[in-house]
Amino acid sequence: MSSEREFNEIITGLAKKRGFFWGPSPEIYGGSSGFYDLGPLGKLLKNRLENQIRSSFVRANFWEVECPTVSPAIVWKASGHLDGFIDPITQCTKCEQIYRADNLIEEQSPGIKITGKSIDELTEIIKTHDISCPSCKSTLGPVESFNLMLKTRLGLDQEAYLRPETATTTYLLFRRFLTFFRDKLPMSVFQIGKAYRNEISPRQGMLRLREFTQTEGQIFILEEDEKNWPQFEDIKEDVLPLLPYQTQQKGESKPVKMKMSEAIKKGHFQNPAYAWCVHLTYSIFKNMGFSEEKIRLRQHFPTERAHYAKDAWDVEIHTESFGWVECCGIHDRGNYDLTRHQEFSKEKLSVSVNKQPVVPNVLEIAFGIERPLFCLLDNSFQPENKVRDTDWLKFPPEVAPIQVAVFPLMNKDELLGPAREIFDSIIEAGFIAQFDVGGSIGKRYRRQDEVGTPFCITIDYTTLEDGTVTIRDRDSMEQVRIHRDELVATLKKVVRGLIRFESLQ
Ligand code: GLY
Repeated sequence: MSSEREFNEIITGLAKKRGFFWGPSPEIYGGSSGFYDLGPLGKLLKNRLENQIRSSFVRANFWEVECPTVSPAIVWKASGHLDGFIDPITQCTKCEQIYRADNLIEEQSPGIKITGKSIDELTEIIKTHDISCPSCKSTLGPVESFNLMLKTRLGLDQEAYLRPETATTTYLLFRRFLTFFRDKLPMSVFQIGKAYRNEISPRQGMLRLREFTQTEGQIFILEEDEKNWPQFEDIKEDVLPLLPYQTQQKGESKPVKMKMSEAIKKGHFQNPAYAWCVHLTYSIFKNMGFSEEKIRLRQHFPTERAHYAKDAWDVEIHTESFGWVECCGIHDRGNYDLTRHQEFSKEKLSVSVNKQPVVPNVLEIAFGIERPLFCLLDNSFQPENKVRDTDWLKFPPEVAPIQVAVFPLMNKDELLGPAREIFDSIIEAGFIAQFDVGGSIGKRYRRQDEVGTPFCITIDYTTLEDGTVTIRDRDSMEQVRIHRDELVATLKKVVRGLIRFESLQ
């Protein structure tokens, strides 16, 4: 297989050519890094991932909400983002280019430990290890803190920020949730919406965006319920690929397949409710179509955690483009957020336990959708070979942007009529389908393989005689004939993976 760099270029090139994503946006004005447009197929793919995420959360008893993306400065002072959501930066003393100091050190002196280092310590490392400006090789200035939030103003002069996470905006609704959930904790809610981060010179395409769509689930929960979480019983025998930080300390990067009950016993998770959140996240990623061997769950080192987190695990996906990619954070935020918002808003954000006010804890699942979207493209890519003379995409059928294509064998009225009827019935059943009459059947199959459509239906002269059509399977390139009356029911089963295509033969 090609090197990581080449592979990333192949995926990005394919994404642009076939209409998954374009950018940096706005392209006709030279582009600003960290912004991308989704093309028609990228948007369809994103919708599919969102739907999988939404149904996973709903199945787990979460309720969806939507909050504004801009909030006044007080919110971000209270959340800690104004003071703590920062990257270390350094500026070249000659060409004045600005860089992320930690990235430069990692690139020029790999192996130096930088996690948890202070601004002054990073300045010292840059000096002692002769880290220089990558573009003009001159000396770099002292390291400074750079806040990653995008600032704006409301009306003439009220300082405000675009949200860097949906989570904080969800916490502000705590009192409303208490009413909605009739004062019963735990309360589980989620948001899918835009968030913004002013990354310094983002260079990893879709993996580091300044504007992205976050999906974040939150459970407001009391400590006693974290320890006594009945749903854990349902998943305790499940085996997950875990990489606790103690294992990483020994230099290991391979996850250990471990039962959830064993992970609790060994103290890798502090309580069953948090362990259950990690399991739920793993199942969300499986539902998005990632295969087990491409997923690992990695615990953060204590020095690596965000300012609000007591414990943190990431979902990482293995890609040919970038190796392991961090795609999701699962955080035990304790009662940090509600305590801070109670203090700053002066509103009561507690519940009564044994007649005492208690501020609940929050368990959080947080990720941007664009990273799994890129990783799925990467994982689905299949290079051309002797059998197929084009690169193609092996999307899992349930998340493929187009699930079915319908082809009349020829552009003739007697075939177009029934083909249209069949196409309409497929759309009515809720599939995204494409009707294509252009070129030979071979060329039409090829075009659908290139965008990862799992099933193609052909209406031919036999259809007019006996009502049967062909279904062609993308992966095996095999075809079977079935009656058009059974088509929609059969498609539902093969797309959802309830039956295998081979069993139709
Ligand atoms: N809400 C946590 C995060 O944005 O990573």
